Amino acid sequence: LPDAEVLVVSNREPYIHNLEDGQVALQRPASGLVTALEPIMRACGGTWIAHGSGSADRMTVDGDDRLAVPPEAPAYTLRRLWLSDEEQEGYYYGLANEGLWPLCHIAFVRPTFRASDWEQYVAVNQKFANALVAEARTRNPVVLVQDYHFALLPRMVREKLPEATIITFWHIPWPNAEVFSICPWKEEILSGLLGSSILGFHTQFHCLNFLETVDRFLECQIDREHSTVRAGDNTTLVRPYPISIEWPPAALAAQAPVDECRKSVRLKYGLAADALLAVGVERFDYTKGIADRFRAVESLLEVHPECIGRLTMLQVAAPTRSQLAVYRDTQTEAEAVAEAVNARFGTDDWAPIILVPKHHEPEAVFTLFRAADLCLVSSLHDGMNLVAKEFVAARDDEDGVLVLSTFAGASRELLEALIVNPYDIRAMGDAIHAGLSMPLDQRRERMRLMREMVGENNIYFWAGRMLLDAARMRKRQHIER
Ligand code: G6P
Repeated sequence: LPDAEVLVVSNREPYIHNLEDGQVALQRPASGLVTALEPIMRACGGTWIAHGSGSADRMTVDGDDRLAVPPEAPAYTLRRLWLSDEEQEGYYYGLANEGLWPLCHIAFVRPTFRASDWEQYVAVNQKFANALVAEARTRNPVVLVQDYHFALLPRMVREKLPEATIITFWHIPWPNAEVFSICPWKEEILSGLLGSSILGFHTQFHCLNFLETVDRFLECQIDREHSTVRAGDNTTLVRPYPISIEWPPAALAAQAPVDECRKSVRLKYGLAADALLAVGVERFDYTKGIADRFRAVESLLEVHPECIGRLTMLQVAAPTRSQLAVYRDTQTEAEAVAEAVNARFGTDDWAPIILVPKHHEPEAVFTLFRAADLCLVSSLHDGMNLVAKEFVAARDDEDGVLVLSTFAGASRELLEALIVNPYDIRAMGDAIHAGLSMPLDQRRERMRLMREMVGENNIYFWAGRMLLDAARMRKRQHIER
């Protein structure tokens, strides 16, 4: 798409400035969306519009609320938008995270829908749409709309910029029609999304769920042969584009050799030099199955007592959405399970589980991946899960085992991982044990294949496929006009 103007809109911003002890500190958030999109923007340039959520965000923008990023080597513009507490409550915590998030993830947390949250959701979508239209310098920009925070925005932008190419990507699963019908504003959400030129999901399964939902609740024309939906005078292409990560990842550049990472991490956490190390890295979200994986470690120690004193599960978990009770409870439960397992099996100088409830920057996470014998991703449900792909990318020594939930989109691509059902605690414990006992040649063979997969289907490939589809569409539009 040569010369096209690129505009991204997402709730979470790629760079957050916070005040820490009176100093401005830069943070990169724990968000799969940001991990994926940021390298694309670094490569393409353009403007990324997002909520300015950091305590020092206002201090670091210019008079137009803009900032050139990445700060150390500017490549694109971050345009921050400010939200009032009321907007945040209703749009972000309420409708997005208490409504749509549990609606779309099968984790058996009941979605809550409040009319007042919906009002804020509509208003904030309109606010971002207006800002985006004001940022646009051309009449037909390429607009990349990100995630469940902005289901209404594609149609709002379409009304103002009818010639724009609007590519919307839904980063979380899409449930079946019956489940989606719980949402009191299902028609509005569907019709908002159908303002897009392209609507992308991670898997074919989610695309089919979406088409079935549209079929049930909207009057429109579905062409299953071409996977398009015609609503009013707009046609939307609905396709799977499995998201990925940059290759090679920037966070790998400054890493020490694997041997040194193994030593330094074991030293830092007080582990024996030959300790077996499993790692987990996530946000403290109830969809991630963190307590379940601790139970799996417990089961492993029960069944294989020879691992007592040898195996440590190091879990780093970034507190997230902590204003909501269900998130605080998730953390409390995981901490209680970790404590119980440690009390049952731990000794004076060894604990089976180390839980660090703190955000870690990408470089620190990569060092953990490189130090580990095994990475455990036990999501109860996950659109893709980029931690799994980052672990693979971190292992340029072609070693390390990935244990991966069958309910993460990544399990459709990383076929050489040990695939587990996170609800089956015993089997998950057995899989961890099998991973730790796997001979080196098998570990290497699996890791090589997974690295090939992620290396080829990297984030540039993801964006490339979407932009290619968009370019074809723009050419066709040109002929039709
Ligand atoms: C998921 C969502 C993203 C979100 C991220 C972090 O990956 O799909 O949209 O940014 O979680 O959550 P947060 O609410 O902190 O942005």
